[in-house]
Amino acid sequence: MNTALIEKLLTTKVIGRRIIFLKEINSTNIYAKELPKTSITSGIVILADHQSGGLGRRKRSWLDEPGANILCSIVLTETINIPLLPFICGIAVAEEVSKTLKLECTCKWPNDVLLNSKKISGTLIEQSSNIIIVGIGVNVNQQEFGSLSPLATSLFNETSKQFERETLLANILNRFEELLLLAKNSTSQIIELWKKYATFLGKEVLISSENESYTALAMDVTNEGFLIVKRENKLDTLLSGDITLKINL
Ligand code: BTN
Repeated sequence: MNTALIEKLLTTKVIGRRIIFLKEINSTNIYAKELPKTSITSGIVILADHQSGGLGRRKRSWLDEPGANILCSIVLTETINIPLLPFICGIAVAEEVSKTLKLECTCKWPNDVLLNSKKISGTLIEQSSNIIIVGIGVNVNQQEFGSLSPLATSLFNETSKQFERETLLANILNRFEELLLLAKNSTSQIIELWKKYATFLGKEVLISSENESYTALAMDVTNEGFLIVKRENKLDTLLSGDITLKINL
């Protein structure tokens, strides 16, 4: 990654004003957690060309082809409504893919961005002492997904075009900062923006947690980020923590 190019394209005040680029690391989220507390300022971005132990939600791994994707962690130290962060990342990525690249993508609760019903981006939010780590992965130029190919894809695989990761990342970080400011004043506006991409609402979905799995009708997402589903004529409010959602049943 060319960090000088990213810095040139950034219009932010705080986010990405310091970038730590690593050719290879186990996970940018782990690296962020291990930063000496004295060297942390809000908005630092840890960026890697490859992760040997990339982390996903629900103790899954996040795999990547070296040099192909966006793998970054944004470190935040200010008070922020943490449950909104996956939605903020989702909007930032979905807008970049939909508006700039003119590709129709969708968001799946709570933190996925899909292109042609396959995942291109996910977010892993973690808290460590008093810092918040926002890990974002976007599959940009990766070509092989092996056994994951029915579920995951990249911008390249859907368009046969290579994309410049630096421009995509700078645009995503620029929008991330704007949305972070918006979130301080209006939670509902964040959820409204996100819902524009949430085409699964109104559809049957499969909800899986550690204990159970059931189909339900996805009804709405509240301003706090909870998913409301209808199951056997009763409404359930779901917290994102341990739940996986499948659409296109
Ligand atoms: C998910 O969808 O399960 C979340 C995926 C998050 C992946 C990103 S890549 C950069 C950051 N570092 C990690 O180890 N994970 C996140």
